[in-house]
Amino acid sequence: MPLPSPWRSDFPGILALEAEGQTYLDSAATAQKPQALLDALQGYYGAGAANVHRAQHLPGERATRAFENTRVRVAQWLNAAEPTQIVFTHGATEAFNLLAYGLEEQFQAGDQIVISALEHHANLLPWQQLALRRQLELVVLPLDAAGLIDLEQAAALIGPRTRLLALSQLSNVLGCWQPLAELLALGQAQGALTVIDGAQGVVHGRHDVQALGCDFYVFSSHKLYGPDGVGVLYGRPEALQRLKHWQFGGEMVRLAEYHSAEFRGAPLGLEAGTPPIAGVIALGASLDYLAGLDPAAVVGHEAALHAKLLAGLGARDGIQLLGAPRVALASFVVEGVHNADLAHLLTEQGIAVRAGHHCAMPLLQRLGLAGAIRVSLGLYNDSDDLERFFGALDQALELLR
Ligand SMILES: Cc1ncc(COP(=O)(O)O)c(C=O)c1O
Repeated sequence: MPLPSPWRSDFPGILALEAEGQTYLDSAATAQKPQALLDALQGYYGAGAANVHRAQHLPGERATRAFENTRVRVAQWLNAAEPTQIVFTHGATEAFNLLAYGLEEQFQAGDQIVISALEHHANLLPWQQLALRRQLELVVLPLDAAGLIDLEQAAALIGPRTRLLALSQLSNVLGCWQPLAELLALGQAQGALTVIDGAQGVVHGRHDVQALGCDFYVFSSHKLYGPDGVGVLYGRPEALQRLKHWQFGGEMVRLAEYHSAEFRGAPLGLEAGTPPIAGVIALGASLDYLAGLDPAAVVGHEAALHAKLLAGLGARDGIQLLGAPRVALASFVVEGVHNADLAHLLTEQGIAVRAGHHCAMPLLQRLGLAGAIRVSLGLYNDSDDLERFFGALDQALELLR
């Protein structure tokens, strides 16, 4: 049964790529952008750019209003109680680094930071480096065969020395939702801070940070159909207060003297220098666009397309799926075929998928793999995209096997 996307024509980039003969199946790396985002960028730059929070003049006041409007929209999107709980960064990666530096003084030698075996490098390396700087122990929670963090082992490994738990909501390689409620409860029972990497999860369905009950939630705008160069850090007020300032410069300071300074609290105190103004405003436009869609229709379309993807992969010999993906993506390897060779032949046929270690080298190593191919879907993909992918896959495998 054909599965057209009713939203495809809202995304000029996907149409342009199609006209160029490219089938874009790499939305987990970055998503295409709705026309609404392009209009917002044109609107902001076309009407006259200005810096935010500093100027009393009309363009400055207008830019500040639009910028702060996005903070309100992001807070609504995540169901944060207050917009002041939303800090803008330059990406999810920067938000994790902000946390790892900002929380550094909360730890003493011998304390534990707990992550899982499937974390993206962005939610691994900042903690690993913090652990090395402060003589902390980095504990890695193992996975079960389906790619879920093993709850029994987690219960044994999370203990009184655990000061922080940093976990992915949805793996960018395995595509499975993690049992966050149970895991966060284990951390919270020990008084640990909890950090959720929502970079992939935020794209699929709506998530309520108050219901999740985490201290911090992080995502990147560009995967959520927004512009690149913008990240979001949500924090509970008590958790935000524990963050030390980590970057210093304009607008984050209340009072500066030559030899001392007094800093603002969150969010502005954590947004040193000129922020990505156009990007933040454009993220607001993307969220407005997304908010106007029927959420059940989006989830239904993505689920139907995903089922078709899994069925197609399952119907072919020698394809081994990684984990048990629940949404939006599927990573796989093919018996006797190197992923780089397969990626090369798919690329030659205009299929844009991701190949390699997916910024999760330790996970791929644990799985005994040098790399894998990942197909990931956005709400603009349709069954024709999948037909083209499977046609190209069959041709490539015929050549390679
Ligand atoms: C699960 C996960 N976390 C974090 C990141 C880092 O995001 P960014 O590169 O936008 O900072 C990614 C990006 O691929 C990701 O998939």
